[in-house]
Amino acid sequence: MSDITLKTEYDARPIGVFDSGFGGASTLRNILRLLPNERFIYFGDNANAPYGDKREDEILALSEAAADLLLHKGVKALVVACNTATSASINALRRKLDVPVVSVEPAIKPACETPGEGCVLMLATVATTKLARYKALQARMREPERVINVGCSGLVELIESGSALEEDILRLLEEKLAPFEGKKVDGIVLGCTHYPLIAPVFERYARAHFKGACRLYDGNEGTARQLRRVLRANGLEADPMATPPENRVSFFTSGDEGSLEPIFRRLLETPIYEQ
Ligand code: DGL
Repeated sequence: MSDITLKTEYDARPIGVFDSGFGGASTLRNILRLLPNERFIYFGDNANAPYGDKREDEILALSEAAADLLLHKGVKALVVACNTATSASINALRRKLDVPVVSVEPAIKPACETPGEGCVLMLATVATTKLARYKALQARMREPERVINVGCSGLVELIESGSALEEDILRLLEEKLAPFEGKKVDGIVLGCTHYPLIAPVFERYARAHFKGACRLYDGNEGTARQLRRVLRANGLEADPMATPPENRVSFFTSGDEGSLEPIFRRLLETPIYEQ
């Protein structure tokens, strides 16, 4: 007799994903690729973006409200697709919610494993760079001082506009990254989920202004894999044999749905860069 047991129970409920705005589209791109049979409800808190210049208690309250909204829509698991929200709220959300919660975090670990004598630039919102959770993550690295944190206020607003010109983004990067001009940079961590959506701009900037490999890293693929592990461990996977529904992602926003949804759908289609 075969000892192979066939799984017969599947969970067709959707997975909730939220961010302060469009940034979570970069996380969702990786998740959609890895989990082709799952459905998603995305909430972008665009009316309250950016989170990164707010106080910790404000970010926590907004994250809890976003999670409640998705829970009321009947999600089976939650993905915090915002590094800032993770830093301010992940412990509280895990304590409070009775569904599994997975979250994105700045990918400084793989970046620090890149060989080289240069630095690792970690670009994120000001809040992420200052909050205790991220600081503790950095302190766990073998050479924490190799990581230089740069808060990039203003960048999320440009990406949220959906129509920022590359020259405006480059001007802002010049302003934030001027101190590293000509330096050896081994890795650049895109520590805000909005940033991978404009990865080619970071690549062009790095080629023109830094020495070293300047490899880009983000936490999206790690988050997608963690979500797959958590769904399996909790028996929450969708039936792999069921035909996936045509529209796998429902979009909700605290802003104007009519004007924001087309931008979100376009960002979701942008290609993932190889890490
Ligand atoms: N996308 C978010 C992150 O990963 C935050 C953007 C914001 O400041 O609202 O940190």
